[in-house]
Amino acid sequence: MSASNRIVLSSDHAAIQFRQAIAAHLAALGWVVVDIGPSSPESTPYPRHGEAAARLVASGECRFGIILCGTGQGIMMAANKVKGIRCGVCADTFSARMIRQHNDANMLSIGARVVGEGLALDIVDAFLSAEFEGGRHATRVAMIEALEG
Ligand code: RB5
Repeated sequence: MSASNRIVLSSDHAAIQFRQAIAAHLAALGWVVVDIGPSSPESTPYPRHGEAAARLVASGECRFGIILCGTGQGIMMAANKVKGIRCGVCADTFSARMIRQHNDANMLSIGARVVGEGLALDIVDAFLSAEFEGGRHATRVAMIEALEG
């Protein structure tokens, strides 16, 4: 099965409704959405959910991952500990586009307590419609990968 149209979503308890809105948006655009939850509003630690999504991207099962917590920061930090993951937190569409074009990000993190839902969907669209430019940026991404050991 091709991973090229598969995208994993996960969050902690702070972003469940946001995540569901993004899932519906992506499904309407034709993405195969792998929503790994949680669905319960009980408090749950963001590192667990960041790691779970990151593993699906790092293994190649999903092309991209979109993760959310209250700020987007903690879950991003956890995801970036998984080898092969390049995840940025974005609260604007410019950054979302640039982390694809220059950093070849394979995951996007959004803070559900930082941006509104409409902006979050625009951020997702900006991220997914941008392409990595390669060239000098590929050299720099390779330097990031070299730091992983
Ligand atoms: C949970 O209250 C909150 O700490 C979490 O969603 C996130 O903001 C952490 O970075």
